[in-house]
Amino acid sequence: MTERSLGNCIACHALPGQTGVLSTMGPSLQGVGARYSEGQLLQWVVDARQIHPNTLMPPFGSASGLNRVASAEPLLNPEQIRLVVATLAQWR
Ligand code: HEC
Repeated sequence: MTERSLGNCIACHALPGQTGVLSTMGPSLQGVGARYSEGQLLQWVVDARQIHPNTLMPPFGSASGLNRVASAEPLLNPEQIRLVVATLAQWR
């Protein structure tokens, strides 16, 4: 989630416990586990376009409908997405 070549969530979100420069492009993920169910968190991470069609958040589990991508593979694999969602669910 803090790795630039992987999730890079910190480019747009403040994460709990993170210090230094915090991005305000997206909402802070502090307490996100209390705001959404695990199913909803999974939806946010896999493809936020299903929630907000004009979202700025990249779809981490889908490459469908994307143009000029470096790879046809999703940004994160299913195991990485599972770990991200488990982490988000803990942030209450
Ligand atoms: C390019 C910027 C960007 C990146 C990178 C990004 N997000 Fe987001 N995210 C957003 C924006 C903007 C929103 C606000 C909703 C919207 O505008 O659609 C959002 C919303 C969310 C939400 C819903 C939060 C709420 O309180 O409603 C979650 C959960 C989330 N992102 C998780 C993640 C995770 C986990 C990662 C990394 C794997 C990530 N995001 C990477 C931009 C980003």
